[in-house]
Amino acid sequence: MIISALLILIIPLIISLPFWLPNLVIQLRMSIFTKVNGEEGIQVPGKEIKASEFKKIYANKSLKGRSKGANLSNLFWYWLAPGPEMHQEHIEEWDNYKEIAAVTKNILSISNEETEQLWSKYESTIFSQKNIKTWKVIRLRDFLMPISTSFFYELVFGEECTEEEKKIILKHSNNVVNSLKGCALRHMAKRNKLTELLMEKLEKGDFKHHFPKEYTTEQKALFLQGVFFTTAIVQMTDALTHMLLVLARHPEVQKKLNNSNTDKRYYDNVISETLRLYPLFGIAHRIATDDIQIDENRSIAKGSVVCFNYPEYHKIGFKNPDKFIPERWETITKREANYIPFGIGANRACPASHMSLIIMEKMLSNGIQKFGFSSSVEHTRSLPNRGACIIISKEHSFSNTIEKILLAFLKTRDYWETLRTSIIQLVYGFIMVLHAKDLKLADNYYKKPQNGNTISPAVVSKS
Ligand code: HEM
Repeated sequence: MIISALLILIIPLIISLPFWLPNLVIQLRMSIFTKVNGEEGIQVPGKEIKASEFKKIYANKSLKGRSKGANLSNLFWYWLAPGPEMHQEHIEEWDNYKEIAAVTKNILSISNEETEQLWSKYESTIFSQKNIKTWKVIRLRDFLMPISTSFFYELVFGEECTEEEKKIILKHSNNVVNSLKGCALRHMAKRNKLTELLMEKLEKGDFKHHFPKEYTTEQKALFLQGVFFTTAIVQMTDALTHMLLVLARHPEVQKKLNNSNTDKRYYDNVISETLRLYPLFGIAHRIATDDIQIDENRSIAKGSVVCFNYPEYHKIGFKNPDKFIPERWETITKREANYIPFGIGANRACPASHMSLIIMEKMLSNGIQKFGFSSSVEHTRSLPNRGACIIISKEHSFSNTIEKILLAFLKTRDYWETLRTSIIQLVYGFIMVLHAKDLKLADNYYKKPQNGNTISPAVVSKS
């Protein structure tokens, strides 16, 4: 009798776990992060600064500090190690920012046609009839990352990467993205192996772009590793994963894209709406380098950390903000909307915005012509399921019954995976936050005497 009563209580509790546990875990994780790191920063939009002031404050010239003096930086540096001190996104403008940014710009400066050609070359090897004869259940992130890897390798070195090199890069970038999302711990051996590979390439003279300043081979390798073999690969892959997953969950949008009468602007609207709803940045932070007077009553004190919350900002002022509605962009302009997928021009916006949009457009038109996508998994910004979906060749008929069975399988698997992943994220997140707090990579770096205006040798972030 007692056993039956217990079973009646326990079984529904276990079955309902995926409905309530992941949210509870997220809240728990946030409170652990806050407890360990301390409450930090002025949240924008928030109590003090409204969404209408978001762009103005972000663009303020006294909000230039990037890493020095914020606890959050220790965490970002930890996730990006080795070499955050050579990563354009994290160095201070008074360090060697200008020189480093110039090398990035130089590497990215290929024409639209060259970008399309290079992307198509690698995309066609994977999105091909040979590879997907009828249909396949895939994880979009795993499927797309090799394309981004081959593309950025050739962009940087001007030659194709070997299978062995691709494996090394993929192990590194997968480890960075998985640890950033709390799904894995940092694996420094995988990361250091890529540094060694890049140093070898540089020593052989395989890198043809010019560095305006003298850096050691290690510093050059760490710069390439951070900007091109981490940020570029991870961001490009995630943007494309979101775009295809959102289509997989919205067959009506795929239908409209396939209709030859559809205005080409609709393609743009699908991309804009993807980046609005799934911005790749959660929070970008800046440190005030001077006092900032907002108005008579409000100011930001020098040294304050200001946290710009992209997902929040992208919701304010939009009707049904949580819904994917590409049509909304027919009546609003990106300039006027609360929409900054690539940051703010006046304060270190993304240097690859143009290239990224070309690639997204190319992938959208090519992918949708040849394949259909279908999915029943949850679509969140952190993509813990790595974009699980079915990819279906248009050259073969696909039975509705098989699709329904596969969708039911994906949903059930996602249901339990979400549960498992959220617990892993809680445990790993906690370990990494503590480890980052202990290592204090950014703090220790800025405590060390800097060698004039030159970044000191990259030694602090190997651990
Ligand atoms: C759709 C894809 C991408 C999106 C949505 C995106 C978004 C962003 C955003 C919002 C920022 C500004 C962050 C801030 O204000 O702190 C940024 C900065 C940056 N992004 Fe991207 N990004 C993408 C792809 C790429 C790619 C392919 C690269 C490859 C080079 C790249 C390299 C960078 C760098 C180096 C910065 C730092 C800029 C600086 O501080 O000077 N991004 N990105």
